[in-house]
Amino acid sequence: MTDRAFMKSFLILLAALVAFTILLFIIAQVIGGKAKSPDVAATADAKAVAERIKPVGEVSVKTNPVMDALIPTAKAAANKGKAVYDANCAACHTAGVAFAPKLGDKAAWKARISKGKETLYRNSIKGFKGEKGFMPAKGGNAGLAEADVKAAVDYMISKVK
Ligand code: HEC
Repeated sequence: MTDRAFMKSFLILLAALVAFTILLFIIAQVIGGKAKSPDVAATADAKAVAERIKPVGEVSVKTNPVMDALIPTAKAAANKGKAVYDANCAACHTAGVAFAPKLGDKAAWKARISKGKETLYRNSIKGFKGEKGFMPAKGGNAGLAEADVKAAVDYMISKVK
């Protein structure tokens, strides 16, 4: 086969393939277009799927007006402090790890409380190097809000009063 003849048949083959591709594309459009309107199908499917995979339980953050009226704000704040303490501070302060003042240990807290609440807030938020030990900033959980750390400090103070 000469180069010329080869080029000719090659181009014909190429043209045929392109035509075939276009044909397939058109057929696909025709078949696809006959199916249900796509967004109707999509939303119906999505709803069915969401229904099938939905979790068995859900956390409800809705506040209950009756409970809110019954529980005074102060108690809610104390519970918050306890929750923060249990999750972030208890590891050191319950057992007194590394010279941490123990929860409820009046003697250990007396001198600290006399420094003033603001100082204790600041030291627990920013971190504090004492004579013996080291209190990491926010108990080592940088993601804690300052208000949460303060609530935990309030809770700790409330335990030695
Ligand atoms: C890794 C251990 C550790 C964790 C976790 C920890 N603490 Fe401490 N904390 C210490 C140690 C140790 C000290 C005592 C430092 C010293 O005075 O030598 C201390 C001291 C304190 C003090 C007294 C500071 C002062 O000025 O005397 C407060 C208040 C306090 N921590 C609050 C918290 C709070 C609130 C959390 C949780 C958010 C927390 N700590 C988590 C180790 C820890």
